[in-house]
Amino acid sequence: MPYAHVVGWGKYAPPKILTNAELSRTVDTNDEWIVTRTGIHERRIAGPKDTAATMGFAAAREALDVAGILPTDVDLIICATATPEYIFPATACVIQDMLGAVKAGAFDLSAGCAGFMYALSLGSQVIQAGAHRVVLIIGSETLSRITNWSDRGTCILFGDGAGAVVLQASDQPGGVLSSLVRADGSGGEMLIVPAGGSHQPASVQTVREGLHYIQMNGREVFRFATRVVDRAAREVVEKAGLTLDDIQLFVPHQANLRIIQAAARSLDIPEERIFVNLEKYGNTSSASIPMALCEAVACGRLHPGDRVVLVGFGAGLTWAAAAVQWGAPPERKPSRMRRAIRAAIYPVAAARSRAVRVLRHVEARLFGSPSPKSVDEDGDTKKK
Ligand code: COA
Repeated sequence: MPYAHVVGWGKYAPPKILTNAELSRTVDTNDEWIVTRTGIHERRIAGPKDTAATMGFAAAREALDVAGILPTDVDLIICATATPEYIFPATACVIQDMLGAVKAGAFDLSAGCAGFMYALSLGSQVIQAGAHRVVLIIGSETLSRITNWSDRGTCILFGDGAGAVVLQASDQPGGVLSSLVRADGSGGEMLIVPAGGSHQPASVQTVREGLHYIQMNGREVFRFATRVVDRAAREVVEKAGLTLDDIQLFVPHQANLRIIQAAARSLDIPEERIFVNLEKYGNTSSASIPMALCEAVACGRLHPGDRVVLVGFGAGLTWAAAAVQWGAPPERKPSRMRRAIRAAIYPVAAARSRAVRVLRHVEARLFGSPSPKSVDEDGDTKKK
């Protein structure tokens, strides 16, 4: 059975910073309250041109560069997001086109803030089953677009960003050692965007009532989170045949410092073995764990061979965890030819995408689009 190794990682944080002090000018809150209750000091806000797809693309591109893998070698792209580009097509497909990942399948995964962990679990099992060799996992969020900026109970928490990892098949033991995914749909209304789906399609009324924004029962979500982080971490470590002492670093979903501290206490893990960066980004939902992983590597807290436990939780309610033996990017330097291909590949992908669109348009103008009646049961166009 092949192993699913993490061989690349990347992140994108939009440059615009929104501090607690700035927030307190528009809503009845203050820096001291936010820091004491959440640990968050500031968050990033997507610029007008940033979307789930553009940010996911930036993170994915960095992850592929670290891995030394070309987009044309990617077999599958999973984008975890609660703030997709559209209801459909999937954000993963938009990113697939931007990357020029021409032989990849692509789909979105909706599991709230646990989305990245669900995708990691699924992606690793696809590799272990031998179905694919290179899987790109992305978490990308523009939560600022569904945040009610006059609701002090939620607007202080969330931020925007994207992160990605590349999983690659290998015969060497390591990579994703174990994972679990869980859900409890009975808690769905605790963290919800009530309108915009088939239950309550968007209308003037739903917008007037602000039903297109995040609604949350903070206390209940807090209670749920503190319970599941401990349980999921223990379970996934045991499943990997390890003990908590074998784990060099814990990277929990970056929602609230108090949730993380409560988990550290109940797991009896010193805080220096837990990675926290939520003070800079707030809760970026499915982007939080891959962004944290990138920063843990960059600041020397996570090294090749280290065993790391990741735990996500969020809307659904969902939670998921994995024990991972951290990988290393390839040691050999890319050849000059490969570097040249890498530099050219994204402009070529953009040009290819434009050309295919133009060609499709021209074809439709010249030959007309087939009407449903002119297509037989096999999907072939009938000859006139
Ligand atoms: N600034 C100042 N005061 C605020 C405030 C804010 N931003 N938000 C709420 N308050 C007030 C409340 O109105 C309440 O006042 P009252 O006692 O006069 O009624 C008081 O602070 C306490 O509110 P409460 O909601 O009980 O606070 P809390 O300690 O539970 O903290 C959260 C609120 C949202 C920070 C906390 O519940 C939380 O983090 N929950 C988990 C959320 C989460 O992680 N969601 C994402 C999961 S993926």
